[in-house]
Amino acid sequence: MKVSKISCVLVLFIALNAYPFEQNLIINVDHRSTVSLNGKWQTIIDLYEAGYYDYRYLPSKNGFFKNAKARNKTELIEYDFDKSEVLNVPGDWNSQREKLLFYEGTIWYKKSFDYQRRPDTRVFVYFGAANYHSIVYLNGQKLGEHEGGFTPFNFEITKVVREKNNFLIVKVDNKRRRDAIPTVNTGWWNYGGLTRRVKLIEVPETFIRDYFIQLKRGSLKTVAGWIQLDGNQAEQTITVEIPEANVKQTFNTNADGYVEIEFDAELQLWSPDNPYLYDITIKSQTDELHDSIGFRSIETKGSKILLNGKPIFLRGISIHEQAPKSQARAHSKDHAETLLGWAKELNCNFVRLAHYPHNEYMPRTADRLGILVWSEIPVYWTILWENENTLKNALNQLTEMITRDKNRASVILWSMANETPVGDARNEFLKTLAERAKSLDPTRLITAAMEKSYERGNKLVIGDPFGSYVDVLGCNEYIGWYEGRPNRCDLYTWKTTYDKPVIISEFGGGALGGFHADKDTRWSEEYQEYLYEKQIQMLEKIPFLAGTSPWILTDFRTPRRLLPRIQDYWNRKGLISDKGKKKKAFYVMQRFYKKLKLTEQ
Ligand code: GCU
Repeated sequence: MKVSKISCVLVLFIALNAYPFEQNLIINVDHRSTVSLNGKWQTIIDLYEAGYYDYRYLPSKNGFFKNAKARNKTELIEYDFDKSEVLNVPGDWNSQREKLLFYEGTIWYKKSFDYQRRPDTRVFVYFGAANYHSIVYLNGQKLGEHEGGFTPFNFEITKVVREKNNFLIVKVDNKRRRDAIPTVNTGWWNYGGLTRRVKLIEVPETFIRDYFIQLKRGSLKTVAGWIQLDGNQAEQTITVEIPEANVKQTFNTNADGYVEIEFDAELQLWSPDNPYLYDITIKSQTDELHDSIGFRSIETKGSKILLNGKPIFLRGISIHEQAPKSQARAHSKDHAETLLGWAKELNCNFVRLAHYPHNEYMPRTADRLGILVWSEIPVYWTILWENENTLKNALNQLTEMITRDKNRASVILWSMANETPVGDARNEFLKTLAERAKSLDPTRLITAAMEKSYERGNKLVIGDPFGSYVDVLGCNEYIGWYEGRPNRCDLYTWKTTYDKPVIISEFGGGALGGFHADKDTRWSEEYQEYLYEKQIQMLEKIPFLAGTSPWILTDFRTPRRLLPRIQDYWNRKGLISDKGKKKKAFYVMQRFYKKLKLTEQ
């Protein structure tokens, strides 16, 4: 019997959907009892993975995870963490040492610490992120592995941790792989290392591990969600308190420590003009956890995006996780405040965090500043669509992204992908992701950054088949940069085959900050300025336009931009240079958004 290719793909996706997506990620670590392991870590650069494989390329039993020391003058040990150089954590390794700028491979990290565990508690080691593949060991024992460079993970160490001289060892490998997510070709620097914070988390034997507390889809007063306990005392009474809203609700968890919650409340709705966050307390018989959560509804109606039931235009900007005025990957609260502060200065009420989940300070700062967020997983360009592990990996990164940020009012859009080529296997792959996102979070909008097609008579069409599985259509276009010159914008009219909101999720062009010439000279600030003027004229005519997020807030490091003395491994499409200087186009966008803002009032 000849089994068609499509039915194989379908069988593959049904099997994967059965793939259990429960995970043990602990959320809201900032409101828990933690010990930071940030700081200087000993490191060993191991290009040939000599610390992992033996000469037969089999995993070695005497790998570096043992942190072995020569016990006498005769014993042969060929590494020594304590005599090795250090790297800062959190931090990518590429920007910390000249010789590591282009390094792709394995670096071993070691951190020693003492730990006094309180009775009846459990301890976890938590990583905000590590790029790309990590294997984690404590005191010579393997705790587990994690794949994906932009989402958090944790391992329980209760039975392994000891009072004195613990050694935590992490093998981090940022080698690019064809079957990985992202795959081998991306537009950003492949920063490697323990790029985000590392913490020890101490919790009660049975603790509140995960919860979802947001407004029910389509409601402005019904709060719905669930709470998940982790531990032996699964059946407990849980109280959810929101004192400022006179809420005190009690629920009982089942034998799996799980309970669905629903209650009505009179709430101040969160919005960019009023980013109101409530202090929430979740109490169980064995644990208590606080969080600050905003409540808002987000929906679509035809080509409109409705925030709290009212149409809103998303005045946005795209952002890479590039530390301001720095060669490094951003990771801190200060970085988040500077980047989102610049977005505010641009009169934005929205940011597209590209092309991967950014550190948690970004959505939490956006919650406080009143900035709406598009969050995306790095399903970027030419992924291996028919590879089962590639899909599992994408589903896992999606699940971790949603798990971490599902209680952030600022986050309104989950993006499944960026600029991926239309095709059956790709469509199925993305459809499976969208279904997973919907099942994990029915309250938010699904999107993806897609591409346009052409129709006679200078018509540009947004009609990607994946459009039928999203709530909002994202479309990237580079008219006036990769396609012709800025005047080309005057030629085009836009249409879409869907009655859905459209966000032009990327447009723009490069300029070397401080280089001035006439508006026809590429790389000059004047060319970029004129390009933005022409783009805005074109975009203002699109009747179904619900938002824009030009590419990009700041210049960012990339291995794909090589023009000497102009690019030098920087993408120069920023409205702000790598030195933090605003380019002329910044003010064009600032004025346009100001005008829109005034029309809303
Ligand atoms: C693409 C892509 C970006 C890239 C940009 C560019 O559209 O999505 O990641 O940086 O183009 O070429 O600058």
